[in-house]
Amino acid sequence: MSKRKSKDIHLPAGECLSQVQRLLRERFCHQQLPVGPFGFESQHKHLLELLKRTAVHGESNSVLIVGPRGAGKSMLLNCVLKELMEMNEVKKNILLVQLSGLLQTDDGIALKEITRQLNLENVVGDKVFGSFAENLVFLLEALKKGDRSSSRPVLFTLDEFDLFAHHKNQTLLYNLLDISQSAQTPVAVVGLTCRLDVLELLEKRVKSRFSHRQIHLLSAVDFQGFLRGVELQLRLPPDFPDRRFAEDWNAGVEALCEDKSAEAVLRKHFNSSKDFRSLHMLLMLALSRVTVSNPAIRPADLLEASRLCTSDAKANVLHGLSILELCLVIAMKHLNDVYEGEPFNFQMVHNEFKKFLQRKSHSVHNFEKPVVVKAFEHLQELELIKPMDGASVRSQKEYQLVKLMLDHTQIMEALQKYPQCPTDVKQWATSAFG
Ligand SMILES: Nc1ncnc2c1ncn2[C@@H]1O[C@H](COP(=O)(O)OP(=O)(O)O)[C@@H](O)[C@H]1O
Ligand SMILES: [Mg+2]
Repeated sequence: MSKRKSKDIHLPAGECLSQVQRLLRERFCHQQLPVGPFGFESQHKHLLELLKRTAVHGESNSVLIVGPRGAGKSMLLNCVLKELMEMNEVKKNILLVQLSGLLQTDDGIALKEITRQLNLENVVGDKVFGSFAENLVFLLEALKKGDRSSSRPVLFTLDEFDLFAHHKNQTLLYNLLDISQSAQTPVAVVGLTCRLDVLELLEKRVKSRFSHRQIHLLSAVDFQGFLRGVELQLRLPPDFPDRRFAEDWNAGVEALCEDKSAEAVLRKHFNSSKDFRSLHMLLMLALSRVTVSNPAIRPADLLEASRLCTSDAKANVLHGLSILELCLVIAMKHLNDVYEGEPFNFQMVHNEFKKFLQRKSHSVHNFEKPVVVKAFEHLQELELIKPMDGASVRSQKEYQLVKLMLDHTQIMEALQKYPQCPTDVKQWATSAFG
């Protein structure tokens, strides 16, 4: 370490920029906890109080954190847990079990995971239990102090809580909530979910054991708040090694947030999604365009990033099609127009294409039928067309009903961008009736 004060350190621009990239990428991709205030103060206080009561006073509790994806449910919980673990009287006392509905897809797996996280694999050994409840009670008993007078509180967090409701008989939920109601062992059950109607999914006996405490995370930020959020997300902290560079960078960020065209991009983004996760995606893409010769995020970088974020994957696939395949898509678009979205089969598409070849085409030549069939199958492989559900497998391929998975605007936009699309094909696409 240099003894000089950090404000005297000057690093080469390239070095500074790679530090910026590393720092901001960690912020955007590693689910880092936010440093500053983050807008959920009352919810934070509520949850902290609740968990403190379990951790310190041994009261059992259950609570659900409800909010859309990317709203900050995991972040809120992690902030609270971090704060909790920093308290001396809690640190050595509480045990944490973190489950996710995406990982523990049935209660057997969940029980194994609970055993593992509580470090009780050796205690359980190869005992056989009669029921799930017996096993869980055994685990919690095993956590009791030597004199059996008191138990260590256990904090269960269940991410994607609603998925646990699909487990057979909701055994895990029933048992956890049942324990949280009876005074044997202090446990807190914290569920995270994006389903507002989550209580409707619970069986009656499970629901009646839940405390009905819910913490809702509904973002109430307006656009000005959102802009401030963007600025905070991009700013460098005061302990950045090169002070001068950090000041310049932060000034650049301020200028960016005041720029009219950048504001327009951000407003568009704000209108479609307000959550931090998609904002991080946008900023990440803009950040990746920063180089030594372009050492700050410019409005144009934001614009490009937003274009990438909102680009339509299916329309992009269209750019890679051959002219023949593109023609078949246009034929299907016309069939869709004529039959108002009713499914069609290969023969109809082929007829439509042949009509075009006879009447209007100058540039596309006649393809043999097997070639057209191949092209049609390729479209099916790309999932641009899909067979109708319940289509009989025995019916001849050419007569199997399919539907087009693209809409009118996607096709027209893709045609505009298709490299060197023949004019007659374009005209055919825009003409009203095939
Ligand atoms: N209010 C906030 N301030 C700063 N960052 C936030 C805020 N809310 C969410 N984030 C960030 O957004 C991302 C998604 O949040 P997360 O808690 O994983 O959402 P959820 O669990 O609700 O789907 C995380 O990287 C998180 O740090
Ligand atoms: Mg989450």
